Amino acid sequence: MLNFNYSIPTQILFGKDQIEALGDQVKKYGSKVLLVYGGGSIKKIGVYDKVVEIFKANNIAFWELGGIDPNPRISSVREGIKICREKDIDFILAVGGGSTIDCSKTIAAGYYYDGDPWDLVTGDAEIEKALPIGTIVTIAATGSEMNSGAVITNPETNQKLVYGHPAIAPKFSILDPTYTFTVPTNQTAAGVVDIISHTFENYFTRTKGAYLQDRLAEAVLKTCFTYGKTAIDEPKNYEARANLMWASSLAINGLLAFGKNAIWSMHPIEHELSAYYDITHGAGLAIITPPWMEYVLDDETVDKFVEYGVNVWDIDKTKDKYAIAHEAIDKTREYFRSLGVPLTLKEVGIGEEKLEDMAKAVIEHSNGPVGDFKPLNYEDVLNIYKKAL
Ligand code: NZQ
Ligand code: ZN
Repeated sequence: MLNFNYSIPTQILFGKDQIEALGDQVKKYGSKVLLVYGGGSIKKIGVYDKVVEIFKANNIAFWELGGIDPNPRISSVREGIKICREKDIDFILAVGGGSTIDCSKTIAAGYYYDGDPWDLVTGDAEIEKALPIGTIVTIAATGSEMNSGAVITNPETNQKLVYGHPAIAPKFSILDPTYTFTVPTNQTAAGVVDIISHTFENYFTRTKGAYLQDRLAEAVLKTCFTYGKTAIDEPKNYEARANLMWASSLAINGLLAFGKNAIWSMHPIEHELSAYYDITHGAGLAIITPPWMEYVLDDETVDKFVEYGVNVWDIDKTKDKYAIAHEAIDKTREYFRSLGVPLTLKEVGIGEEKLEDMAKAVIEHSNGPVGDFKPLNYEDVLNIYKKAL
């Protein structure tokens, strides 16, 4: 296990009706709020009305930025910063999924930066501070509610980039699983794949001796495999929604990665798909993950796949190592299939045309080979894209 400094600063308010604490939480940080949300689902499920009621009861003034797209655009960030400056906003509340939260995080950081906020995403300028933000999560997927990362798209340059800074970690997040009852089947499935993928990224590493982190990761994986399909078949199953919601936060809040050299590779490969084709992030991960697994499986990595197959899928450990590894990969693919997510690029309308451009972009954005479990160069990434066709 490697050295690490533990810090997960976000306060989590988990469970039914935790929104009742919203007024007190916001007042710790400010009284003039920018309320950020997506395409309107929060109005349909009644969370918007509840937030407004609480703001009014607590004399909290607020302005709105709605319409944040999935794969949030830098243009929405610019718009949000403008409102914050004009109205002297002192707190941002994101209500929605990862897209709304990431947009809000970037508005929060951009508020204190004089140049274009895209510079903060590319790393051309450093974040010094950010407005405080809080979140109300409505979909279990990205874990953005409990981490200090964000992903923003710039359609003009075909770039979808990840960046992070401690200042953008939410001060609090309200996780009420009942809000996720209305998430449509395809988004529920994509969210489950995203949680699984975050866990894989932290699990499939070369670091030895992080026994505890790996067992925690296996518990998160088993939680997803146990409850993912249930949430699809029974959207209002509280137990399933609650377990997935907490799994989504734990998969990517640092807990599974502390003490490990977790350099991600499936995500950078997927991000180019959603940058170039604006597809759902979790769907892209479902397409990339099994081919990635098959591609990186070799004598150096096989033991990790055995660990995964035996501990997560209960495969007979006396079998041949490669037989276990292949069975584990097949089970992963079959599980994704049972969720109804796409498993090939063709299914989401992606052909061979831009595979080379995307492979180049993966390497460029990773500043060299991608990942550490098995570092992948341009040819490797291109081969994985081709396997995914
Ligand atoms: O826009 P609305 O109307 O709210 O509808 C959304 C959207 O269409 C809908 N939805 C959310 N909650 C709902 C609901 N519909 C009905 N009922 C509800 N309760 O779901 C759709 C997807 O929303 P979005 O916020 O885009 O989903 P997600 O949470 O999966 O976020 C995806 C974005 O986060 C990034 C992805 O790349 C993508 O841009 N990621 C962020 C990460 C982070 N900050 O740590 C890590 C991830 O790996 C990921 O890259
Ligand atoms: Zn993800």
